[in-house]
Amino acid sequence: MSSLLAPTPHIDAAPGAFADTVLLPGDPLRARFIAERYLDTREAVTSVRGMLGFTGHYRGRRISVMGTGIGIPSCCLYATELVRAYGVTRLLRVGTCGGVQPGLALGDLVLALGASTDSSSNRARFGGHDYAATASWPLLEALSAQARADGLPLRIGNVFSSDMFYPAGTDPLPTLQRMNILAVEMESAGLFAVAAEHRVQAATLLTVSDSLVDGRRMAAAERERGLDRMLRLALDALA
Ligand code: HPA
Repeated sequence: MSSLLAPTPHIDAAPGAFADTVLLPGDPLRARFIAERYLDTREAVTSVRGMLGFTGHYRGRRISVMGTGIGIPSCCLYATELVRAYGVTRLLRVGTCGGVQPGLALGDLVLALGASTDSSSNRARFGGHDYAATASWPLLEALSAQARADGLPLRIGNVFSSDMFYPAGTDPLPTLQRMNILAVEMESAGLFAVAAEHRVQAATLLTVSDSLVDGRRMAAAERERGLDRMLRLALDALA
């Protein structure tokens, strides 16, 4: 594995500017919102290509938050640089997903136990074989314990990390439903593989923002409340 020193091609933060634990929303503006709204202290540490990153404290614990952009290539690039050049050891993706199972409601919280994918990147990483991309047990345990303590129901299972927000060709929904995929998003399979390769922890916590079953989407106010619940849960579990 080639060494990588800070600053990197895509992160212009000083060495040591990130905490060991990083919250990873897809949207860089959400990273800024999380830093401003939830962290007790915060400092902007990187802004290359507008991919904002911050480091601060939550309940006394040093923690960072940074956007990943959309999709496995973008997410893996930032995760790899955070791990290799900044020594990050815990990566928690927080995002939204499309519900696949009829029993999932808008606003439900999904914890990805594993992530299947239509992307070829894990095959490339894994010598052409099918890699079982799974989340890290210590993070799964912390998140599920926190959810139980908070009385928040969590749906825990397999998600699907798709390369295509707008699927072309055959509708993937029947296959996803048959294989008990809970929800669709676009990053976790890659993130989990990067974490495994570097012997660090990763997990993904999602809010169902829309339904692939009936096409319903969360309204803005509902979205705000749902995301607040998810972010509090994530931060409390990490702290
Ligand atoms: N597909 C992929 N990613 C998503 C979706 C979706 O329907 N909803 C939220 N993130």
